[in-house]
Amino acid sequence: MCGIVGYVGPRRAQPILIDCLKRLEYRGYDSAGIAVVGKSLQLFKSEGEISVLEGKMPEMEGSLGIAHTRWATQGKPTTENAHPFADCSNMLAIVHNGIISNFMDLRDALKADGHVFSSETDTEVFAHLVESELEGDLLGAVQRAVAKVEGTYAFAVVAQGGDEIVATRRESPLVIGLGNGENFVASDVTALLKHTNRMLYIEDGEVVRVTKDSVRILDSSGKDVRREPQKVAWNIEDAEKGGYPHFMLKEIYEQPSAIHDSLLGRVESLDTEPFFSDSTFSNVKIVACGTSYHAGLVGKYIIEELAKIPTTVQISSEYRYSSVSRESPLMVLVTQSGETLDTMAAAREARKRGNKTVAIANVMGSAITREVDHVIYTRAGPEIGVAATKTFVTQLVALYLLAMDLGAQNRTLSALARRAIIGQLRSLPRAVQDVLNKAQEIEALAKKYHGARDMFFIGRNVNYPVALEGALKTKEISYIHGEGYPAGELKHGPLALISKDSPVVAIAIKDHTYDKMLGNISEVSARGSPVIAIGFEGDTELAKFADDVIYIREIPPLFSPVPVIVALQLFSYYLARERGCPIDKPRNIAKTVTVD
Ligand code: G6P
Repeated sequence: MCGIVGYVGPRRAQPILIDCLKRLEYRGYDSAGIAVVGKSLQLFKSEGEISVLEGKMPEMEGSLGIAHTRWATQGKPTTENAHPFADCSNMLAIVHNGIISNFMDLRDALKADGHVFSSETDTEVFAHLVESELEGDLLGAVQRAVAKVEGTYAFAVVAQGGDEIVATRRESPLVIGLGNGENFVASDVTALLKHTNRMLYIEDGEVVRVTKDSVRILDSSGKDVRREPQKVAWNIEDAEKGGYPHFMLKEIYEQPSAIHDSLLGRVESLDTEPFFSDSTFSNVKIVACGTSYHAGLVGKYIIEELAKIPTTVQISSEYRYSSVSRESPLMVLVTQSGETLDTMAAAREARKRGNKTVAIANVMGSAITREVDHVIYTRAGPEIGVAATKTFVTQLVALYLLAMDLGAQNRTLSALARRAIIGQLRSLPRAVQDVLNKAQEIEALAKKYHGARDMFFIGRNVNYPVALEGALKTKEISYIHGEGYPAGELKHGPLALISKDSPVVAIAIKDHTYDKMLGNISEVSARGSPVIAIGFEGDTELAKFADDVIYIREIPPLFSPVPVIVALQLFSYYLARERGCPIDKPRNIAKTVTVD
C-alpha cells in the first residue's frame, strides 16, 4: 500500500505534489520521491518520511509531475528502492502502488535486452517495460506495457517533453481530480480535497491520459469510456480515514485485500522457491507478544495439522529468560511492527542458541528483519489503529504458507492436498467479505451487550486462540473486562464467575469439538449467562442453545479463525463505539513497544 499523486496544470508542480503527498502519508511512510518534467526530467527521492524528502530536495521547475510515498513490499525501504523510477535514458518516470507478481520474468527479459536496473524492486521493471514499448505516444506504450504485467497495480507515468500523465490500475485505487485548467491523479481522494472535490474514479483495466484541460479514459480493449465526475462531500480529516470514522474500522474493512495481497505470487512460487529448501525440522517454536502471540497459537494448530511437526508457542519475554533449549528447532518470530523489544531480544537469543530463525513481519526493513535468517512479509500495509486487525489476519496467512512449505519439505502434504489448501486460502477474502456484510447485525449485538462489565470468550482447538484474541480486542478498546478460555477449562474455575451480567461469546463452528461446545454453552446458559455464539450458516441447532448467533459461511475448520476473528473485531469495535472509547488510541497502550 503506497500513495501516488500527479499534477498537470499551469502552477509549479513541486509544492502541490508534496502537499498532496503528505495527506497520503498514512498509506506508507518509509521512503518518498518526486519527478517533475521541466527543461529536463528532475527526479529526487529519499529514505524516510515525506518531511525528510522535503528537507533535502532541490527546487524543481515545471508544471507536470508525479510523487510517491512508499510502504515497501518488494525491496528494502532505501533511497534506491524509493519511487519514482526512471528508464535507462532518464526520459520517463513512473510511480506504482501494488505488487507485480511476474516481475522476475520481466526483469530477466529486459536485462537480456540490455536494460540496466538500479533497484531491487518489482516496480522498476515497469519503467523499462514502457521504455521498450515507446514508439509513438506514451499512452500506447503504457497500454502495451501493462498488458505484460501480472499482479496488482496503479501506475502513473510522465515523460520528458510530454504534457500528460498516463495512469492505469488493476485492484489498486486510482482517482482523477478535476480542477480548472489543471488536473490531478491520486491513489485516493484524500490527497486532492484541498484542490478539488470533483473526481473521476478509474476502473480496473482502464488506462487514462490526463492533460491540464482534458481527461481521456480508455477501457482494456482501447475503446473510449465516457464517465461523469462525482462530487465528494468529505472533509479532509474524514478522507484520511477513507470515510471511516476510525482507522480501526477502515483496517478491518481492508482485510479482504490485505489477504489477497499477502497471497499474491506466493502460493504458486512455493514449489519453485520454498522458504526452507535446505532443511527439515523436528519441531518448531513460535515466539511473539500480544496479538502476534495469538496468531502464533493459531499457527501451532496449522503447522501441526498440515506439516505434522510438533510446535510450541511462547511469549517473547518468557522465552528470553527461559533456560536453553538444546534441540535446534525452527524459531518463528511473529511481530507486526518488527520492533517489539522482547521479540527482538528473543530473536537474538534464538540465534545465540544456534536455531534457525524466521520472522513474520509487516514492516519491511524493520529491526527484526536484520536479526533473522529469513523473513516472510505480511502485506497488510500500514496499520494505524493501535489494536491489531489486518496484521493479525495476514500473520495467519503467512503461517498457512509456512505450514504448507514445511509440509512439502516433510512430505506430509500431497500435491492434491496442497491444491485444496491453496483453493481455501484464495477463498478467504470472500469469506471475510461475507462477515463484513454482516456489520449491521454485529453492531446491533454490540448495542445490546455494551453495558456488560465482564465478558467471557470461549473456543476449542484452532478457535481457542481466536477466543483469546477476541477477549484481548474487547478489553483493549472497549475496556470491558474480556477473558478468553479454552471452553474445556470453564469447569476448572471461570464458571464461578459466570452470571447474567457476564455474557459469553462462544465460537461453535461445526468441527470435531462441536458437541462439546454445545455442552459448554448449556453449562453457562444454565447459570443465567447470555450466550452469543458464532457458528456456520445453516446450523439451526445452535440457535436453540444461544441467545444470539453470528453466522459465518461454512469453510474447513482449519481456516475458520480468519472469518471468526473478523466477526469478533467488528463486535469489539462496536462495543467500544457504544461506550464512547477512543478506539484508535486506547489508554495506556502503544502500537509499537520498544521497551521491556
Ligand atoms: C503492542 C500492540 C499490540 C501488538 C503487540 C505486539 O502491545 O498494542 O497490538 O500485538 O504490541 O506487537 P508486534 O509489533 O510485535 O506484533
